[in-house]
Amino acid sequence: MSSMKAVIIGPGNVASQTQMIAPEAVKGHAVVQLTASALNHRDVWITKGQYPGIKEGAVMGSDGCGLYRGKEVILNPGLAWGLSEACQGDQFRVLGVPDNGTFADFISIPEEYLLPKPVHLSCLEAAALPLAGVTAYRSLISRAKAKAGERVLVTGIGGGVALMAMQFAVALHCEVYVTSSDQEKIKKAVSMGAMEGALYTDEGWHNDFLNKSGGFDVIIDGSCGSSFPLLLKMLRAGGRLAFYGATAGSIPPINPQLVFWKQLSILGSTMGSPSDFQEMVDFVTLHSIVPVIDQVFSLQDAGAAFRRMAEGRQFGKIVFDHSI
Ligand SMILES: NC(=O)c1ccc[n+]([C@@H]2O[C@H](COP(=O)([O-])OP(=O)(O)OC[C@H]3O[C@@H](n4cnc5c(N)ncnc54)[C@H](OP(=O)(O)O)[C@@H]3O)[C@@H](O)[C@H]2O)c1
Repeated sequence: MSSMKAVIIGPGNVASQTQMIAPEAVKGHAVVQLTASALNHRDVWITKGQYPGIKEGAVMGSDGCGLYRGKEVILNPGLAWGLSEACQGDQFRVLGVPDNGTFADFISIPEEYLLPKPVHLSCLEAAALPLAGVTAYRSLISRAKAKAGERVLVTGIGGGVALMAMQFAVALHCEVYVTSSDQEKIKKAVSMGAMEGALYTDEGWHNDFLNKSGGFDVIIDGSCGSSFPLLLKMLRAGGRLAFYGATAGSIPPINPQLVFWKQLSILGSTMGSPSDFQEMVDFVTLHSIVPVIDQVFSLQDAGAAFRRMAEGRQFGKIVFDHSI
């Protein structure tokens, strides 16, 4: 039995570094040596106790890249999706709490969840891809069915999923607009192909933005909260709003007449099926898309990484390099 370093969910929902026994090979499972992993907002929710099924002592982390039988692999973090493409089944769960996750030197996982690492990506970049990539792909492409030439708004562009959705929409040849709380993040998004952006923290931002852009065919949102009714106002007739998160909280009352008269679709979206995941990896490979890494930390520095995400300072993905 060998030991490994890991970040587990400890007492009081604190993310704690520890040494634990490394997993051993069992039939049908691969023991992957993880070289990199990445943080998601889910990990922050877990440390706040705001996530179902928290299991003390479980290894955290949903995203990983590593070595299995001498080959570089990435992990699909959507476990037991089930048979329907429309939605996940009762057994569905996200890798990392309650199942042991990727913030460790090794993981034991059924072989079906391993895919070859896209060759154009480094291990750190590939570790940034899985959870945000599949969530962005399903929201934008499988659910909202964004097409070339359509006008797409992605909210909160500093977020890991949001930035990936923007990259995918740019690759699709959509006309992409963004919102953020930070002008610098908007500038970075424009340098990556967005048309322009608005500060959602400014009073009346949506009126100016609606006038400038002429409205949107598709909106991808991860925050909900008080802005949600404004997003519906910014959709063109026949528009689709897909949302995958509620960082800013509940949705206030919306105007039903607006929704039925404009024939709007409001679409909830979560993670993605194994087909979504494979299609996302193929899409990323075809378009040579490289996930944006905000900052790289060691697992020993996990506390600083969690704080950066909780404070919303990042632009893109916060990644752990397991070799430092
Ligand atoms: N359903 C699913 O399958 C699924 C999958 C992944 C994530 N999620 C959820 O989706 C959310 C985002 O996840 P993530 O990992 O991408 O998080 P993240 O990297 O921490 O991004 C959060 C971003 O949200 C933006 N934001 C915060 N308040 C906002 C507001 N009032 N209006 C617009 N944008 C706002 C900020 O953007 P700026 O910095 O630009 O202001 C922030 O950077 C989380 O709630 C997460 O739990 C759900």
